Amino acid sequence: MAENTFDLVVIGSGPAGYVAAARAARLGGRVALVEKDDLGGTCLNRGCIPTKTLIHGVSVLSTVVEAASWGVVCDRPTLDMAALHAKKDAVVTGLAQGVAKLLSASGVTVFQGLGQVPAPETVTVSAPDGQRRLTARNILLSLGARPAMPPIPGLNLPGVVTSDALLAATDIPESLAIIGGGVIGMEFACLYAGLGTRITVIEAAAHILPSVDEELQKRLIPLWKRRGVTVERGAAVTEIVKQDDRLAVRYKGRTGPAETVCRRVLSAVGRLPMPTEGVVTVPGLEREGPFVAVDAGMRTSLPGIYAAGDLVPGPMLAHVASAEGLVAAENALGGSAVMDYDAIPACIYTAPEIAGVGLTEDAARRRGLHVRIGHSSYGTNGRAQTLGEPFGLVKLVADADDGRLLGAHLFGAQASELVAEATLAVKNRLTVRQLAQTVHSHPSLSETLAEAAQGLLDEQSRVA
Ligand code: NAI
Repeated sequence: MAENTFDLVVIGSGPAGYVAAARAARLGGRVALVEKDDLGGTCLNRGCIPTKTLIHGVSVLSTVVEAASWGVVCDRPTLDMAALHAKKDAVVTGLAQGVAKLLSASGVTVFQGLGQVPAPETVTVSAPDGQRRLTARNILLSLGARPAMPPIPGLNLPGVVTSDALLAATDIPESLAIIGGGVIGMEFACLYAGLGTRITVIEAAAHILPSVDEELQKRLIPLWKRRGVTVERGAAVTEIVKQDDRLAVRYKGRTGPAETVCRRVLSAVGRLPMPTEGVVTVPGLEREGPFVAVDAGMRTSLPGIYAAGDLVPGPMLAHVASAEGLVAAENALGGSAVMDYDAIPACIYTAPEIAGVGLTEDAARRRGLHVRIGHSSYGTNGRAQTLGEPFGLVKLVADADDGRLLGAHLFGAQASELVAEATLAVKNRLTVRQLAQTVHSHPSLSETLAEAAQGLLDEQSRVA
């Protein structure tokens, strides 16, 4: 095969792209990956990894603040934000080196530069030192997404930032207004509340975190309020204006016009797929709204061109992007893989963490399913008590007809880890009885899942 001819050329090295490139190379393909920026994409450089490192740093601070209650006496702890950012940068750098090593060990050729598809089976790579032309039997577009910028007057004022800029900020504002009570908005709300910032979240919809079970939301909002996070729902932001050295965020509240005045504003109103117009100039790439349309095998409307990750419809989650990338890689190398969106866990790294998989109670009822609900609380769980984490809830949604677990929704310490067991159960169509009859170690937080399952069975036997 000629030097510049590849079985697969991947454009974009986020969790969809680099995972796909490594898999295709390990399947025996000759693979190239084109990236114009840092390896790892949003997740590694500006998303999941840096935010979770900062969130852990703030949780270390609160552990130290509470240390006296465990008999550990510390002088007044303070947070050195610059040192926390250095730690975050070191984590990102280490993982980026890991991605580079994975790609090189798998035999993937990495090209630095802007990738474009000017003709079928052709990818050009433009870099400061010139342009290369690659021949690609298959192409995977994994270009990612960027923050949506709604036409709100004042959104371009100094002090109004997206999550990218906030991730690099080393000062701690005394007050922060967050436009959008989605995943990014609520994670940053909890992060900055942990640093003592007064937070106002302004959400246009009737609910924050629309994917989260409503019962869980109702329990969390008062807890966040006590920690300095005020949530205004049904409040669409209309404009932002400068007021002396502060910013006034004006919105249509439930009882009329209102405003909150703060030092900084975070715009977190969603993300949009990267435009493909400047990248794919071959005509005929079909869309689904702002997304690139794909079939279940991640094939676009153009022969030999696949797409995966935030560019295509579906949850904008790193693990979904990787799963889609694997499907595209296998199919590009002659396979017949199909993407399965049925049991996708979603984790929100607020304080406390929130996680869920499968159907919420509302979604199951909307589908006309006959459901039973089981609950358990961290308050009665031994491990939660030993950790000093008694605030948490597990809710199971089961099919009343066959006992199958349809969904699990929880908040509390390590919810993002606990959801893995529920994901295995939902994916493999296990029943609540099978979950209850699985011996869970004691003391462990995982017992909350077994307890909720057992509670559901007890309730059922009482009804029967
Ligand atoms: P999002 O779509 O989750 O939330 C945006 C919110 O902004 C919505 O609730 C919307 O109603 C609200 N909004 C829009 N315009 C508004 C206005 N003018 N005034 C007030 N509210 C307004 O988007 P977000 O939080 O920006 O996250 C983007 C993507 O990144 C999501 O798909 C999310 O799943 C993903 N992500 C995932 C994470 C995780 O898995 N832990 C972490 C961070 C992001």
